[in-house]
Amino acid sequence: MQTQTLRPTPDGFATARDILAAGGLVAFPTETVYGLGGDARNGAAVAGIYTAKGRPSFNPLIVHVADLEMAQQFAVFDNHAMALADAFWPGPLTIVVPVRAHAELSELVTAGLDTVAIRVPAHPVARALLATFGGPIAAPSANPSGGISPTSAAHVRDGLGGRIDAVMNGGKCDVGLESTIVMPKDGAVYLLRSGGVTAEDIATIADVKTPTETTDAPTSPGQLASHYAPHAKLRMDVITPNDDEYMIGFSDVAGQINLSSSGDLIQAAANLFAYLHMADEDAQTLGKTKIAVAPIPMTGLGVAINDRLKRASAPRG
Ligand code: TXA
Ligand code: MG
Repeated sequence: MQTQTLRPTPDGFATARDILAAGGLVAFPTETVYGLGGDARNGAAVAGIYTAKGRPSFNPLIVHVADLEMAQQFAVFDNHAMALADAFWPGPLTIVVPVRAHAELSELVTAGLDTVAIRVPAHPVARALLATFGGPIAAPSANPSGGISPTSAAHVRDGLGGRIDAVMNGGKCDVGLESTIVMPKDGAVYLLRSGGVTAEDIATIADVKTPTETTDAPTSPGQLASHYAPHAKLRMDVITPNDDEYMIGFSDVAGQINLSSSGDLIQAAANLFAYLHMADEDAQTLGKTKIAVAPIPMTGLGVAINDRLKRASAPRG
């Protein structure tokens, strides 16, 4: 793949819009770091983000939107969330809020959670891209997994050149540090990741808590237990399910549902969290108490899929 460099001109934005609409990936500058963007509604595009980064696991991603109005299409804002958005958007603050029922977001973006991390970036190029595209853009930092977050288009090319469709060159990022992440909950605001917007800034809106202060605090980012885990017990690498098992197939190993009957790992990743939810619900209806999953090859996105399944199959306390 040839990675195009786009300039922030009307032509450049139109090309970026067309790439995103077709499910492709465009890296773009925000005021914090360059993000690797894909349509947050398109599971295959989001799976492509993980492939390009070579991420061995699925962390939920930040959804970038043009304004609060677009954010409210996808998530529910209570009074605190509204006040935070009013005070700090556009800017380097990510707010974790409940996903709106029937929102069109890919479940891979939220890793199957019922909350979504969402922000309105301040960088003029990011804003113009969001306005031109007219939809939500999922974007982690535009570096290979384990690498340093990029603050210039040249950094992005060094790390991801040849693996993504395009990078929009918008110069250097000002902040160079990822956004602050907060979650309004139970009358307080939990600080999940520190960044440009400080705890003191947030304290002007509400009581600030860090997740360690209470026992049933919201899970902090990066903690992998924060992904959707099925209620039913799960067994991996199954060819022939037992009678009490609801079977999730892959490739030519059949099941009640199949992550990808053609054996496409991108499609399987895009379906993963939605199918775990579905298996949980349908197993009950069919009188099955467990979930079995066909073998998934340990190549490409298969590594992240197996990582997630392994966590779901581990004994729970
Ligand atoms: O500055 C930034 O935030 C950059 C630019 C590109 O916007 N993006 C970025 O994304 O840092 P990423 O994917 O590297 O970080 C996303 C963080 C992860 O730590 C993840 O666990 C957390 O957001 N996160 C996402 N959804 C969440 C949720 N529903 N609940 C809690 N944490 C969440
Ligand atoms: Mg990162």
